[in-house]
Amino acid sequence: MCGIFGCALREGNAAPIIHAALKRLEYRGYDSVGEATISDGKLYVKKDRGKIDAVHKIHNLDDLPGSIGIGHTRWATHGAPLQVNAHPHLDCKKQIAVIHNGIIENFTELRLELEARGHVLKSKTDTEMIAHLIEDGLNVGNLKFADAVLEAVKKLEGSYSVAVISTNEPDKIVCARNESPLVIGVAAEGLYCASDIPALLPLTKKIVIVENGELVTLSRDDFEIRKIVDSSIVERKPKLIDWSPEMAVKDGYPHFMLKEIHEQPQTLRSTLRLQEHYLDLMATFLERAREVFLVACGTSYHACLAGSYMFSKLAFLGTYPVIASECVEQHGKSIGIDSTILAVSQSGETSDTLAAVMTARERAATILGLTNVVDSTLTRVSRVYIDQQSGPEIGVAATKTFTSQVSVLAQLALRVAKKRGKVSQDEMDYLGERLKNLPNDAETIIRRQEEKVRHIAKKYKDAKAFLFLGRGISTATAYEGRLKLMEIAYVPAIALPAGESKHGPIGLVEPGFPVVIVCPKDETHKTVIGNIMEMKARGASVIAVVEEGDQEIEKLADDYVEVPKGIGEVLSPILFVIPLQLLAYCMAVEKGYDPDMPRNLAKSVTVK
Ligand code: F6R
Repeated sequence: MCGIFGCALREGNAAPIIHAALKRLEYRGYDSVGEATISDGKLYVKKDRGKIDAVHKIHNLDDLPGSIGIGHTRWATHGAPLQVNAHPHLDCKKQIAVIHNGIIENFTELRLELEARGHVLKSKTDTEMIAHLIEDGLNVGNLKFADAVLEAVKKLEGSYSVAVISTNEPDKIVCARNESPLVIGVAAEGLYCASDIPALLPLTKKIVIVENGELVTLSRDDFEIRKIVDSSIVERKPKLIDWSPEMAVKDGYPHFMLKEIHEQPQTLRSTLRLQEHYLDLMATFLERAREVFLVACGTSYHACLAGSYMFSKLAFLGTYPVIASECVEQHGKSIGIDSTILAVSQSGETSDTLAAVMTARERAATILGLTNVVDSTLTRVSRVYIDQQSGPEIGVAATKTFTSQVSVLAQLALRVAKKRGKVSQDEMDYLGERLKNLPNDAETIIRRQEEKVRHIAKKYKDAKAFLFLGRGISTATAYEGRLKLMEIAYVPAIALPAGESKHGPIGLVEPGFPVVIVCPKDETHKTVIGNIMEMKARGASVIAVVEEGDQEIEKLADDYVEVPKGIGEVLSPILFVIPLQLLAYCMAVEKGYDPDMPRNLAKSVTVK
């Protein structure tokens, strides 16, 4: 996730306006920043690694000349957060400047083709080659600027919103979108493009949403939208957006948590575009390890728990999921040179996780990291790390980062399974398809179930306690649903593997006691029905999360929510957790609490 902004002003200096807009976009990424402007037919660029204020202090972002320009605030995906990788990126002749948000999947092939044609690329990003593709369009293909951008983006596979300026036609910004967000702002002073509406609101309330597969040419007083596929013109009038400043930063949602729950289709798409090379490298370390510890805290620990089922079921690889604060006590003495630690931490800064990692490092173990923050401590101490690319998560309760973590762990488990020859091609193909469908399935759940969950939350808002049950991998989902409910709605809750309930906790159940049961249609299904019967026999109110059309359970449950059919066991936590995130959110709102700022908690826990 990165922030992009561009402005074409009728008069005045673009640079300070770009700088101010980038500050509003800083939540989308803050490891590097850059701006490019055009004045008197010449391109001017300033960029560096670091937060906007720090870079501005060194380089003065406001004194770039010219009334047209683009700016970028970066959340590193391809290429470390270094000056050379900061956007904008230029072509060989320094006539074209490109900024980009998204992930280009075929950048290696395109880069190699360009290098074979004599282009010199300096960065490790998947963006720089776009400038060189446009350069070829202008200089070899003799295309007009907008057509050169159009032909370049046609070659891209993956997600992007790009904005481009060129000295060939210095009065234009050309931008294009596939999946990554892009909006246009129309004002008397000029035209703007940006990653989101809040970046534009102090400048204008007249907004045009750019759709997937569209290219927009902005001049100082007009814009033209075309379809990338056939260049046909699209007519679209600006809409008036009347958001309060508070709504603006939350993109129109009442809370960051809800916004982040809704972002999951997109964040899951990003995890499916991770670089093969890193996934493969990490899978190789895991496959060769004598023993693997999956170490994390809180929600990230629940991802590890789900991961351990995946490694076992798919790759026949036994792993130990360990709560980080217990890791040294429990395993400190046995961890050694043959051990591999896969530490999972959204922030990459959680003190307990890092303490376990440091002890393991002292004992010569191999450290692997899965995190959402490049340049965090975890990335610095890991032999190999994967950036899960969920974009900044602002709500204290982890939501989108959890589903991304589980999706990455699933991809790793599949790779280890393949290396070990433990899954048939048919199964690989099936799971590959299911993985690809996750973003759409997540979208379906949010669209169809949110209202239903709101009603359930209303019904149970005064319940004094909840029980969450799941079997097999769904135990991890139940644990995560329970943590969400406790941390933001302050409802005491217990979560257990369903089989354990009869060894004590069932004593709590009395008429009306709410029991949430996670019921994918996997091999545990029949046994789970037995557990539902046990609960019903004691008067519990059963809230079931089921697959669409699971009439057996739907008839038994007092309330149910549905996820799309056929997800299968190993990937089920990624979808089944979404209704539970919504339940916790709606319960908190019903009870009058602020889900974004739960009491006694912090986003990153840096004390032991
Ligand atoms: C719960 C939550 C916490 C974190 C935990 C670990 O919603 O966010 O339980 O999961 O503090 O944080 P990271 O993943 O940053 O190590």
